[in-house]
Amino acid sequence: MYNTNSIKEILNYTEEKTGLTVYGWIRTKRESKTFSFIELNDGSTIQNLQIIINDTVPGYSDTISTLTTGASVEVVGNLVASQGGKQKFEIQAQSVKVLGVASPDEYPLQKKKHTLEYLREIGHLRPRTNTIAAVLRVRNAACFAIHTFFQERGFNYIQTPVITASDCEGAGQMFQVTTLELEKIPFIKDSNGKTTNEIDYSKDFFGKKAGLTVSGQLEGEIMATALGKIYTFGPTFRAEHSNTTRHLAEFWMIEPEMAFCDIFGNMDLAEKFVKSIVSYVMKECKDDLDFFTQYISPDLMSNLAVVIENKFERITYTDAVDILLKSGVKFEYPVQWGIDLQSEHEKYITEVVYKKPVIVTGYPKEIKAFYMKLNDDGKTVRAMDILVPRLGEIIGGSEREDNYEKLCARIKECGLNEEDYWWYLELRKFGSVPHAGFGLGFERLIQFITGMQNIRDVIAFPRAFKTAEF
Ligand code: 4AD
Ligand code: MG
Repeated sequence: MYNTNSIKEILNYTEEKTGLTVYGWIRTKRESKTFSFIELNDGSTIQNLQIIINDTVPGYSDTISTLTTGASVEVVGNLVASQGGKQKFEIQAQSVKVLGVASPDEYPLQKKKHTLEYLREIGHLRPRTNTIAAVLRVRNAACFAIHTFFQERGFNYIQTPVITASDCEGAGQMFQVTTLELEKIPFIKDSNGKTTNEIDYSKDFFGKKAGLTVSGQLEGEIMATALGKIYTFGPTFRAEHSNTTRHLAEFWMIEPEMAFCDIFGNMDLAEKFVKSIVSYVMKECKDDLDFFTQYISPDLMSNLAVVIENKFERITYTDAVDILLKSGVKFEYPVQWGIDLQSEHEKYITEVVYKKPVIVTGYPKEIKAFYMKLNDDGKTVRAMDILVPRLGEIIGGSEREDNYEKLCARIKECGLNEEDYWWYLELRKFGSVPHAGFGLGFERLIQFITGMQNIRDVIAFPRAFKTAEF
């Protein structure tokens, strides 16, 4: 058994056809005296295929009661022009076989609308809803667009490790990976043989402290300074205790890294990149985006058009702070030069002031990671964050510090251990080049494209603080 006729394909047929076999799950059934309608969905498209089953179909009276919402069926029949106005074609069934029943008393996805919060509790069934299936198709299309974008531009796709010993962002959000038994942690003994508080990681699996990566950037830089242009696209992990609608503990990030590239080349690429992915999804996922517009976010299409049609505004952090100070708005987090921009500030700048995406550069070094190139003022770094309306930051990137001494100084200043970054430093010792890159949070992008409010609803299996059921 292999289903070659997906409902998406069938709905694109231009003429009637006989002898089709279709498979899917029943969404709804309507019964009348001499026939029944079922709406069939197979996940290939948000559209359902309407099936008409006359009571002359063999076994009608026995089968009909098992044709309930959620049941899986095989239908053989003819594709005929539909009498009703809603669809062009429907299937006139010759036979219907139930493959798997779904008891109406137990199957939770009945006609009644469920909240997204409730659907998160049934993560094994929620992809069978229109909303989550549409999100997953958009994710799929966006993945394809991302690879195409980079492949067409000569970037090499590389795979960076999930387990690593270096904390890229230096923000202390790493999940630890260990095989030490938590009940029997080995502590280092001092010269008198007395046990100290220091854990003896030489006894751990990797012989040192290791964790799940927070970013593939540092390894990406190794590859960019060998292959020129690379990108990664993989899962990243952050022990974010913040229970927000924009943070996950496991999220996917796309990180291009380019040798012989400065902050300006980096910004240009990032802008083209975002526009290209949004355009592709608008073209390929029209039905799904129509659905989101109708049920999730009425302004979706115009919000997406704004991204494609406008040049992203480019301002410095200092400009941003001035704008916020002059706004007269009373923000929850008070504004002054030196603070990290909060999402309320980012939203104000993109939504209220510019009404389009904004690239902010030149952040104070104190609030950014150690690897960013220091500007001549000695105070700011060549960081660039891309902020979008509704969400705030979706991209964080920078030109990297390519000077050995300056990088050593920054590592020390940030309270990090030079020895831990010995290989990263050597990239600046041997054939150092100007280079830059950025990271796009994939789920944030999908939130933006679909209009979905909560990041937990744009990933199949959300991992967040106290959440890891499925
Ligand atoms: O700004 P971030 O921390 O930058 C980096 O990790 C750099 N190493 C990237 C680089 O230059 N190669 O993270 C990049 C993006 C953010 O802009 C955001 O979209 C997303 O990753 N992000 C998260 N998405 C979901 N949940 C979280 N907890 C996230 N943390 C960051
Ligand atoms: Mg950031």
